[in-house]
Parts: sequence; C-alpha cells; structure tokens
Amino acid sequence: MNPQRLPSIPVNNPDMPESQKTASVRKRISPVCILGAGGFIGSHLVERLAAGCGRRAIAVDISCEKIKHLLPHPNVTFVNLDISDTDALAPHIERCGTVILLAALCNPSLYTTVPLAVIEANFTRPFNVLRLCAKLRKRFIYFSTSEVYGRTIAGFTAGDSRLRDDPACYVLSEDRSPMILGPISAQRWSYAAAKQLMERAVYAYGSEHGLEYTIVRPFNFIGPRMDYIPGVDGEGVPRVLACFMEALLSGRPLKLVDGGRNRRCFTYIDDAIDAIVRILERPQQANGRVFNIGNPGNEVTIRELAKKMAALYRELRPACAAAEIQMENVTAREFYGPGYEDSDRRMPDIAKAQKLLGWRPKIDLDAALRRTMASYIEAYGADCACREAC
Ligand code: NAD
Ligand code: UGA
Repeated sequence: MNPQRLPSIPVNNPDMPESQKTASVRKRISPVCILGAGGFIGSHLVERLAAGCGRRAIAVDISCEKIKHLLPHPNVTFVNLDISDTDALAPHIERCGTVILLAALCNPSLYTTVPLAVIEANFTRPFNVLRLCAKLRKRFIYFSTSEVYGRTIAGFTAGDSRLRDDPACYVLSEDRSPMILGPISAQRWSYAAAKQLMERAVYAYGSEHGLEYTIVRPFNFIGPRMDYIPGVDGEGVPRVLACFMEALLSGRPLKLVDGGRNRRCFTYIDDAIDAIVRILERPQQANGRVFNIGNPGNEVTIRELAKKMAALYRELRPACAAAEIQMENVTAREFYGPGYEDSDRRMPDIAKAQKLLGWRPKIDLDAALRRTMASYIEAYGADCACREAC
C-alpha cells in the first residue's frame, strides 16, 4: 500500500466510545510500555508521545534522571523497575498494546571489559521480556543495532581497495547484507552477537507463535541527553560524541582511535523519533519487518567528525576555544584494551523505511552537531576548563 495514502487511523482519539473501537484500534490507542524509557532514545520518545500522540506512555527504567521534566505529564507514568523482574513487569505490560524494548548496555567500552554483563543486558533479560510479550500477545518493537552487520567485506578482507569503495559492500540492506562478526576472542562483538540472537528469537516467535513484531536497527543516533560526560555525571568511556565533548570542555586532545579512519552515518534523534512514531502508528506496514533507521547522507570519518566538532565548538564558545584544539592518534588497544575490533564503514539502505513508512531523515550532520553540541554546552558548560572566561 502507498504509505502516503493510508486510511486515517483514529489513534489521536482516546476518548472514542469503547463500542466504536475495533480490536486493532483498541491496540493502537492503548498505552505503550517503553522499557529503558529513561535513556537517551527513550527520553526523546516519551517526550514526543507526551507532546501529542494521544497515547499514554508507561515509562519503565531504573533511572528517571533524563525524563524527570516529563513526570508530571498526565500521559506519562514512570515505573521504577529493573526489567529482570518479569513478575513485577507483567502487570504493566498487560495494560499496554505495544511494548518497545530499549533497555540495554550499549557503550562499546563495555563490550570488551564486561562482556558477560553485556550479554545479560542485551540477550538474557530481553529474551525473558520477549517471552512475556509473546505469552501476553503484545505487539513487540525491538531495538537492535546497526552493529549486527559487523564489518564490511572490505574491512574483513583487510581493506581490499577494490571492495572498499564498492557500495555493494558498505550500503547495508536489512534483508540481503551479510553480518560479519570477528572471532570469539574479539569480545567487541559480544554486543552485536547478543543483539543478533535476540533478533533471531524475535523472528522465531513471529514465525512459530504469530508474535506481532518490528525490529529496528538504529545507525548512530545523536542528540541532547545522549551520554554522560566522564568525571561529571558518569565514569568510563561513553560513545564518541560525548568523548569528544568531554575533550572539548576540558581542553584535552580529542582521541582518534586508529587515526579516526572509520566511518559512521550519524542520525539526528528527531529524525529517528519520527521513524519510531511511524512504526508505532502503522502496524500493518511495520509488523514482521526489520528496518534500518539511519541517515546515509551524514557519513563522515571519525577524523572529519572531530574536525567539525572542533570548528563548531570554536564558533559556539569563542571565549573558551581560543587555544588550539588538539587531536591525538591512539591505537584501539590503547583506547579500549584488548579484544576490540571496529566496524569500518556502515551506511544504511533506507529504501524499505522510505517505501513502507514514508520516512526519510531531514537533518544534516552540521545541523545535528550544532543542536547536540549546544545542548551539551548548556548542560555542562559550567564544568568546562575555562569557566572564568565564559
Ligand atoms: P541508553 O543507555 O541511553 O538507555 C538505555 C536505558 O536502559 C537506560 O536508561 C538504562 O537505565 C535502562 N536500563 C538498562 N538496563 C535496565 C534494566 N535491567 N531495567 C530497566 N532499565 C534498564 O541507550 P540508548 O542510546 O537510548 O539506546 C536504546 C536502545 O537502542 C538500546 O537497546 C541500544 O542498544 C539501541 N541502539 C541505540 C543506538 C544509538 O545510537 N543510541 C544505536 C543502536 C542501537
Ligand atoms: C555504537 C554502539 O555500539 C551502540 O551505541 C550502537 O548500537 C551502535 O553504535 C549503532 O549505532 O548501531 P560505535 O559507532 O562503534 O558503536 O560507537 P562510538 O563510541 O560512537 O564510536 C564510533 C567510532 O569512533 C569508532 O570508530 C570508535 O573507535 C571511534 N572513537 C570513539 C574515537 O575515535 N574516539 C573516541 O574518543 C571514541
């Protein structure tokens, strides 16, 4: 069906008399249970639902720091709960038509240092939640990752130059591309393997038990509230955006792992949330499908990203960034320790999301970085190294 010509669905009208609601409409307008709602993506999703989707959000997390501004909203109910406790979780899921599973450990520095916790958080616990959703016959939207694709064929064959620039190798399609993970000793892939096994379990519940599901593969979402700043509101190594912000705020060099040669397609969170809302509201198009959600137009090497962020920082905080911003090459082993391998290049094929969801990302990399960095500066600027100057 042409997504532009969908019949209008009265999802925005929770006040419709019960007698007029069909079973499927009832499911669509019933509350959504968001597990991991207190994280980066969850906080933006809850915000969007509260802003006018007409649905109630049951927001489950062990932390509500990032959504505390939303807690007074009448359409948001926060449940402080560890999803491992499926007995306590069941009544909340029972109230909802759809469950969105975001809860995870998803910082690469953890994949090699605490791989068992990563497997537990990204497979064992989610699998128990999946079983519960299948038993209660709920629609299940599962957040996987672009990391399931692993390396490109060129990355796997040590950068064969004939393959490196061949789109057939790095433009990744949900239903055609191979998933190339490294050896078991390369524990970097513990996260990707756990996520892939979850995808396979979700698919199997669909084929064997008729579970209604959608699998989402996000490609490097960025935006406000993404990760903590080490030494300020967390410890360890966050994802690259927050690592670079920490370096800029503290006046330390930006560290380029393996020279920053690898590439990512960064996707602004507002575009990503548009896609998730479409998935939520178009079950006929989304059920039984896997979607890449990413912005192929925003590809950069990590070195280019560092340069862009340094230039933007100078522009956003001229008083703080008077001194030269340094970059420093580090090996992956120095930065992450043993067991790390990288995804060299991953660009999403988004034709399926365009066709079935009528979605395409709109926010280019410069605008995405500007908005994200401005929010980090607002949140953490007072902690920066040159606080007297700014
Ligand atoms: P995040 O770390 O910001 O949020 C995860 C949330 O889950 C946190 O608030 C955490 O407290 C919560 N959580 C973890 N374990 C829990 C438990 N046992 N019980 C209750 N809550 C628990 O992560 P995010 O960036 O918002 O990512 C959300 C999902 O999307 C994850 O599954 C992640 O793997 C996936 N994903 C994200 C990106 C991205 O670019 N942000 C990319 C690919 C995949
Ligand atoms: C991330 C995480 O695995 C998940 O959050 C998510 O599932 C996944 O992306 C995704 O989008 O699907 P990755 O992109 O490797 O993986 O994580 P980042 O920390 O954002 O690193 C991106 C690149 O920057 C890597 O090449 C890394 O080596 C490099 N990097 C990171 C640096 O050069 N310097 C740093 O200070 C930090």
